[in-house]
Amino acid sequence: MDKLIINGPNKIKGSVAVSSAKNATLPILAATILSPSKIIFDNLPGLSDISFFTQILNSLGVQSSQDGDKTIFMADEINNIKADYDLVRKMRASVLVLGPLLARKKEAIVSLPGGCAIGSRPVDIHLKGLEKLGAEIEIKKGYIYAKTKGLVGSKIVLPFPSVGATENLMMAAVMAQGTTTIDNAAREPEIEDHGNFLNELGFKVKGHGSSTITIEGVKFEDLKVREVNYSIIGDRIEAATYIIAALMMDSELKVDKFNPEHLDFVLNTLQQMGAKLERGENFVQVYPSGKLKGVRIETAPYPGFPTDVQAQIMALMGVCDGDSVIIENIFENRFMHVPELVRMGYDIEIDGNNAFIKGNSELTGAPVMCTDLRASAALILAAMTAQGESTISRIYHLDRGYEKLADKFAGINGNIQRVKE
Ligand code: EPZ
Repeated sequence: MDKLIINGPNKIKGSVAVSSAKNATLPILAATILSPSKIIFDNLPGLSDISFFTQILNSLGVQSSQDGDKTIFMADEINNIKADYDLVRKMRASVLVLGPLLARKKEAIVSLPGGCAIGSRPVDIHLKGLEKLGAEIEIKKGYIYAKTKGLVGSKIVLPFPSVGATENLMMAAVMAQGTTTIDNAAREPEIEDHGNFLNELGFKVKGHGSSTITIEGVKFEDLKVREVNYSIIGDRIEAATYIIAALMMDSELKVDKFNPEHLDFVLNTLQQMGAKLERGENFVQVYPSGKLKGVRIETAPYPGFPTDVQAQIMALMGVCDGDSVIIENIFENRFMHVPELVRMGYDIEIDGNNAFIKGNSELTGAPVMCTDLRASAALILAAMTAQGESTISRIYHLDRGYEKLADKFAGINGNIQRVKE
């Protein structure tokens, strides 16, 4: 296993380009199950989650190949409808094959994803929505057995704007007979990208990105077989991570290749804290902003403050002037980065889903351990800012969602090395 060695404090500078969004790529790859067309993606992110999900799709019969920086998917034949536990347990997003398999094959056997480090992460909203569309769902021996005589369009109201449930139901509905509406749908930019991709495949999706999505069912045999080229949106969470890094190190940095509108709430929060930011069309320019002010934030579904940026802004809050509060409303156990940050000199109290962060901490390098994807990023930001050497272990968590992070930081003057443990 690898680890990172970081010596701080650092001043980063220059320009960094974010990769395509992991959380848009995963559902879009699941949607390749739906199409007989040849689908060509340019610059899919080089992440373990993506290569792993591709293996799952291959096990179902989706063919994939690489041609330079293009990745080609072809699903002219789906010859397996079972997503095995030993594949699904490693990545919760695997449950996203349920909707497209039901749509295309009228049957699916998918292992229950099980919980993960940040929470139990049930799929009840996915399953209830699929039943509304005419699926018969049975759970036995840890597997979801789903089948249908043919999905029928329906009016679905989500009890919570679940990102994954919205995506699964969109994919199930695109070939259902008649019209489907999904109310209280998730509104994340990744959902908008998902709907755009489905339309590129020849489906009829409207309102994606808003809280009401309307889908007209299309017959599989009516789909035109053609070549589809698609570019996935930039990763707003990765962008937020680099923007916060520059602010923690009082540095000047251009964060490129994403849409700043997708981070509106985060950028407004940072500016409220005193950050000097300039928003371009597909970049944000960060200027040295000195010590920022503490702030109170609550994580929320889009367009609110994203839970995937919670750990990173907590790292920033520790070096602000004044105290801060974070209320984590999305996941029940997403403060595992706190004990590791405390080892580096942070003063943070946890009370249920509230975190109270003291400002003006003197950070010192330490050996720390990654616990989940976004927690890993927070530790790196802290280590880059702290005085002295830090070693960061279990960085396989990091590789799930950050492409070449050490190289990217080294490329903007960061003192960071990736070494064999
Ligand atoms: C997506 O997860 C993202 N993952 C997560 O990113 C992100 O944190 C999350 O959305 C919220 O924005 C991908 O897109 C691959 P949810 P998802 O369904 O779809 C509860 C990262 O770091 N819930 O919106 O699983 C659930 O337990 C990852 O990149 C139910 O109760 O999120 C959670 O508390 C982490 N029943 C809340 O809703 C359900 O059927 C939000 O879950 C579904 C969800």
